[in-house]
Amino acid sequence: MLSSRPVLTLSALIIFLLSLFFFGFRPPSYYLTRPGVISSEFPDFGRFRSLETLHPEQFPLYDVDRRVIIVGDIHGMFEQFQRLLAKISYNPSSDVLISVGDIVAKGPHSGSMQVLDLMASHNVTAVRGNHDQQVIEWRTWIEWVHSLPGGSRWLSTANERWRKAQRHGADDVDKWVAEQVKHDRRHSQWWKRIPKKWTLFGDHYKIAEEMTDEQYVYMVQRPLRIHVPHAHTFIVHAGILASDPEYPSGHKRQPLAHIPPLPEDNQSLDKSDKISILRRLQEQAILSDVPQNTVPWNTLNMRGILSDHSVTRKQEGTPWAELYNKNMKRCAGFDAKEKSSLPCYSSTVIYGHAASRGLDINRWSIGLDSGCVYKRHMSALVLGGKLAQQSLTSDLEDRFDEEAIDIDGRIVSSKIQFGDSGRGKLYRVTCK
Ligand SMILES: *[C@@H]1O[C@H](CO)[C@@H](O)[C@H](O)[C@H]1NC(C)=O
Ligand SMILES: *[C@@H]1O[C@H](CO)[C@@H](O)[C@H](O)[C@H]1NC(C)=O
Repeated sequence: MLSSRPVLTLSALIIFLLSLFFFGFRPPSYYLTRPGVISSEFPDFGRFRSLETLHPEQFPLYDVDRRVIIVGDIHGMFEQFQRLLAKISYNPSSDVLISVGDIVAKGPHSGSMQVLDLMASHNVTAVRGNHDQQVIEWRTWIEWVHSLPGGSRWLSTANERWRKAQRHGADDVDKWVAEQVKHDRRHSQWWKRIPKKWTLFGDHYKIAEEMTDEQYVYMVQRPLRIHVPHAHTFIVHAGILASDPEYPSGHKRQPLAHIPPLPEDNQSLDKSDKISILRRLQEQAILSDVPQNTVPWNTLNMRGILSDHSVTRKQEGTPWAELYNKNMKRCAGFDAKEKSSLPCYSSTVIYGHAASRGLDINRWSIGLDSGCVYKRHMSALVLGGKLAQQSLTSDLEDRFDEEAIDIDGRIVSSKIQFGDSGRGKLYRVTCK
């Protein structure tokens, strides 16, 4: 008979190897979202809503009296955010405001708190950004420490000591924490509870500590992804893929390469209703069946796709938006016949995160982070309102009457095509 000890050791080894297999080869993640990776002692940092679906009332694309205003990364730049809204003549009683995430951090601390106050008190629609995620994780951690016996006392003493160290010239909190871990033996179990690579008492921490319970709830409720079926639009912070780069884009496992089965109950509908149901199902399949899109870390961080098909947060490989547009341009409707085309309809993605690329307008992807926090611009895309009428009456190739604006070195019209046959208008303010 086996004694229980080797069995235990063996199962521990198997669990370790399995977890390495599942979690070990993904991108490094301190703003994490890999439940299970962090030891079970820690609270669950991976709480998120995966998806929010917006109805026409929440995204009034075809209402001439209402507008949808989608703002790029704000990062606590409150004054510039206010100027941008004033420039657009934002009317909270009729317009819908939407953020592509990263509403706080990096900018002035007081600005982060003001932006958070405005967003949370108006329950503004927004996806979660990677910086928002860090704030959520710190708040979860702080509440966890306070819930442990002696936790509140340790944390306030540590905070006091860090302030004192700063008065004596210390300026690197990570280095200071490393010293505490080494020398403050009496509290070593506390210092070890700080997850690796997290910066204690930094701005994310301070925002997390100061925000009210209501603001915390608002942040936790931010979904990773928004789907707007009637506008055939996705909103994410960093990125999304239209197909799994591991396989050719025409491979039958790709959502855009096959028409989803029509539900039994929908068989008797007319053709245009069938198409709209199938489009919705195909868009949902992009979110659920492209494996990279189901990894929260990717949605919050993705920038490029490397030659080994892996996702990176660095500016390396092919920008994901390039692949996305390439895929979407092959869509030729469900009756597609040509070999180079796919049986799909194109959908649009609106995102932020990529400040280094600036405003990045492509036919099927709209990147709105134009680097306000780096003293460049804060941008917004406006849909609906008067544009709702124009999209019905004017043809696509007409000349835009607005003067062209120069965006990050390129000349782009302030009016852009949006979705199947709509129009959008870009606004921006300078952030000097
Ligand atoms: C905020 O809006 C969402 C819909 O986007 C809704 O589900 C939620 O209940 C609202 N929260 C509050 C506090 O009003
Ligand atoms: C289509 O089928 C779904 C699922 O069976 C059903 O819930 C829905 O009401 C149907 N839609 C229409 C417009 O008939």
